[in-house]
Amino acid sequence: MEARYRGTSRQGQFIAERTWFHLCGIVGFTGEREAQEIVLDCLKRLEYRGYDSAGIAMISDGALTLKKSVGEISALESQIERMPGLTGIAHTRWATHGKPTTANAHPFTDCKGEYALVHNGILTNYMELKEQLIKRGHKFTSETDSEVLVHMLEEVAGADLKSKVLAVLKLVEGSYAIAVVQKGHDEIVAARNESPLIVGVGHDENFIASDVTAILKHTNEVIYLLDREAVRITPKGVELFDLNGVAFERDPKKVSWNLEDAEKSGYAHFMLKEIFEQPRAIHESLLGRLEGQEDDAFFKEQFTSIKILGCGTSYHAGLVGKYIIEELSRIPTNAQISSEYRYSPVTEAKPLVVCISQSGETADTLAAAREAKKRGCKTIAITNVLGSAITREADFVIYTRAGPEIGVAATKTFVTQLIALYLLGLRLGTIKNTISSERRREIVSEMRALPRIVQSVLNDAGKIEDFAKKYKCAQSMFFIGRHMNYPTSLEGALKTKEISYIHGEGYPAGELKHGPLALLSKDTPVVAICAADHTYEKMLGNVREVTARESPVLAIGVEGNQDLEKYAEDVFLVPKVDPLFSPIPIIVALQLFAYYLAIARGCPIDKPRNIAKTVTVE
Ligand code: AGP
Repeated sequence: MEARYRGTSRQGQFIAERTWFHLCGIVGFTGEREAQEIVLDCLKRLEYRGYDSAGIAMISDGALTLKKSVGEISALESQIERMPGLTGIAHTRWATHGKPTTANAHPFTDCKGEYALVHNGILTNYMELKEQLIKRGHKFTSETDSEVLVHMLEEVAGADLKSKVLAVLKLVEGSYAIAVVQKGHDEIVAARNESPLIVGVGHDENFIASDVTAILKHTNEVIYLLDREAVRITPKGVELFDLNGVAFERDPKKVSWNLEDAEKSGYAHFMLKEIFEQPRAIHESLLGRLEGQEDDAFFKEQFTSIKILGCGTSYHAGLVGKYIIEELSRIPTNAQISSEYRYSPVTEAKPLVVCISQSGETADTLAAAREAKKRGCKTIAITNVLGSAITREADFVIYTRAGPEIGVAATKTFVTQLIALYLLGLRLGTIKNTISSERRREIVSEMRALPRIVQSVLNDAGKIEDFAKKYKCAQSMFFIGRHMNYPTSLEGALKTKEISYIHGEGYPAGELKHGPLALLSKDTPVVAICAADHTYEKMLGNVREVTARESPVLAIGVEGNQDLEKYAEDVFLVPKVDPLFSPIPIIVALQLFAYYLAIARGCPIDKPRNIAKTVTVE
């Protein structure tokens, strides 16, 4: 993992040229067999996570050897001669801002070449630590935050590697999974906080890895580490302890997955896995970004208007973004489909242009970003892929930290795009002074609660599955909503058509009577989003309007809205949130609905017909 700044450190708190490398892959092996081949083979099992560079460190005959390279693991392999030794750690780093470099690849070593370390996560206080280390004469070879850890190992007191690692971890803030080796020692010390790490238990050999996929070929006995836990593995033993060094015991679990299951962490499809990863993705996207924003001014200029551009799901995020930004900053905002932007002959006076693309490679959005530049506008890209083309087109970048999304249907990237838009709205509102400090506190606390809220929707997935089974035979469905849940209805409909091949039509609820009511019948279910806000009564009216045409209604309401059951045939309730955040729990319910509809209809899910994950043609 790496965080790199090109602006001032203050700016980097939230926005701008900052790069994040999370969901990188970590593996480690120590045993009685030659480690090099095993470690690289384990690393290859993590390739599905996506990466742009790789590296390995080996304890060889008392020496520490290290090899890193950009590109694929096979490129690394082709560069290394045999590295003898029974202990090794290795790492894949996912995506970079600009060109990935060998210098920025893991593992890192300290000034004396005593330790080697790999890291996955985000260290939020690394800038201060790095400055102090540089003052004390440490020489850094990379721009990463991770490298501070290995230099700190040189400085802290401790009788052995374990106590030194614990001493370092007391000084860092943020998320991490780390693995460390020391010259002359056949042992690996590893620890985690908010980044995944498991221990594989073998016979006269042991492993650590980011996930079970990596080690399944060698052992299916796995110990799952929890946050703020650590481990020391040697060929003969596994020693578990917390970050205070207090030892504990935990029995290994036998994993029954095959390799393909393991890549999906046991989920039937990547889409389902990615839906369930959303609490974590939101948490990552917020990490370090809610603090200190008041004095963290980024934009010098005041923008009089904002234009948001995107395609498909990213466009829908933009439509929600319009409501978010207008509510928080009172700056007039509109969203437009990227491929239509160039046809607007009338241009507002230099709006701030926000280009949203999870892949960062969508041709229509890239073309729109170029057009916006040509028109003299400042541009911000919101993207999930570090170093993607859009990051080179835009003036500033906000990275969503959803981790790689493999399923063609965008799920966790949509939700984290919304998070980026809330953060942007907060920033713009802070600059324009349109948010009272009390309201700001409320918003921040609501945002911190979002992972828990989403988890609680996910816990009810079984109910949604039952609704999907009931509605699976529909040929066509309407999704209706008002205000900021009108775009949520569009996104619910898009997920449904894309994955289940049912024609799903998102509509502003107030518009049904202006035409589409003609299509309603008992065979046309309507999903009605009834958020607990100023639109609720009007939505109830729309539900009645629909049931009068005999269409079955599945109402998505909010806990406490008991009266919905009087009007709708089926009701699914999501937890109550501040209305500003209502699209988040609601879209998670709709993603699950689309997924289970597709399952019930036997659709392929992760690779629906005729569409690609990244659309690189205009
Ligand atoms: C969403 O499920 C779709 N796969 C699609 O609409 C997608 O959002 C669109 O192609 C834009 O992709 P981007 O975010 O990578 O630019």
